[in-house]
Amino acid sequence: MSETNDSKPLLFTPLTLGEVTLKNRVVISPMCQYSATNGLANDWHSIHLGQYALGGSGLVFCEAAAVEERGRITHGDLGIWSAEHATALKPIVSFISAQGSVPGIQIAHAGRKASMQRPWFGNGPLEESDFRRGEKPWDIVAPSPEPINEKSLMPHELSIREIKEIQEAFANATRHANTAGFEVLEIHSAHGYLSHTFLSPLSNLRNDIYGGDLNGRMRFTLETVEKVRAVWPAGKPLFVRISTIDGADGGWTMEDSIALTNEMKIRGVDVIDCSSGGIAGTVTASREPLPLGFRVSLSDELRRNNNILTMTHGLILHANQAEKILQSGDADLIGIAREALYNPYWARHAANELDFDENYSDWPEQYGWWLTRREAHLKNIGVR
Ligand SMILES: Cc1cc2nc3c(=O)[nH]c(=O)nc-3n(C[C@H](O)[C@H](O)[C@H](O)COP(=O)(O)O)c2cc1C
Repeated sequence: MSETNDSKPLLFTPLTLGEVTLKNRVVISPMCQYSATNGLANDWHSIHLGQYALGGSGLVFCEAAAVEERGRITHGDLGIWSAEHATALKPIVSFISAQGSVPGIQIAHAGRKASMQRPWFGNGPLEESDFRRGEKPWDIVAPSPEPINEKSLMPHELSIREIKEIQEAFANATRHANTAGFEVLEIHSAHGYLSHTFLSPLSNLRNDIYGGDLNGRMRFTLETVEKVRAVWPAGKPLFVRISTIDGADGGWTMEDSIALTNEMKIRGVDVIDCSSGGIAGTVTASREPLPLGFRVSLSDELRRNNNILTMTHGLILHANQAEKILQSGDADLIGIAREALYNPYWARHAANELDFDENYSDWPEQYGWWLTRREAHLKNIGVR
């Protein structure tokens, strides 16, 4: 599935998914801001996401938005469980679209990783200091009564009726996302959150139809995909983020991911967003030393086995690095997260580094007009 294009870098070659065309392959990966009140988006989300559209990314993902209140990780998580939540997101979506980027949203349920502190307050279970700020814990749910570790809250084991209700919440959230105007939807099935805990044998100890063998453990995720696909417009792409490997003894493996992806493809999933880890601890906040592009090989393996489009992310810093990943056929989309916190204009700077859009034609005219004149001046004085 590798593509070559002599005239422009693959990173800046548009990609059409269903009825949606991304102007380039740079994706702002979902990033929780823990800055919402009652799950509602506010000015912070507006500027935070707006800057990535100004920064030229083809697809801008809004952070994990909880499909129900108890599915938030923290009190500050964004939600998408009501029409009010969709209304708060609408102007953000319009702004992203007006800049020529595609607005996407990740929908999620934190499962046993819910009811936690915001990262900067400790990143652990809510405690006395949080209660004083009015942040009380709430009852959490999971496939099995297995806490993340000995310090974590004990989750309540979901009954089959409750499982169906949560799947319905995913479908409702999808309807709200569509009303808000999002064009790409991603189901979060990674990082130790609810869907992932159904998949992994380390967290799913059920012996009913939602547990046991691989088919049983995949049931929650696949039924959720079906529910979501049924209400998400056929022309709008559906992504699923999975932890392709648990990276722990007796955990979820790449072989399992390949089997899951086959089933998801049949159910109308367009892109697998290839992540890893998180079943029993932190993911991005981990201090484990990792090389640049540490998830690229996972994306490559899944892409080649399943013949499906993939997105990779994880310490992709440089334009040439991203271009090489695409040219090698290791992924179709490049997710940028922390590098975008550091440089929201990552995509535009990458274009410059790859000698694409030298005359700033893709920049907003409010900026581009000035930058062409600045460029001419810099050339005149020999700085360029
Ligand atoms: C502040 C922050 C919030 C994040 N929130 C989410 C999230 O909402 N959903 C998700 O799937 N991953 C989340 N991640 C993980 C990123 O999407 C990304 O996969 C990870 O940071 C690796 O990419 P990077 O090396 O470019 O940061 C978050 C990462 C950061 C830094």
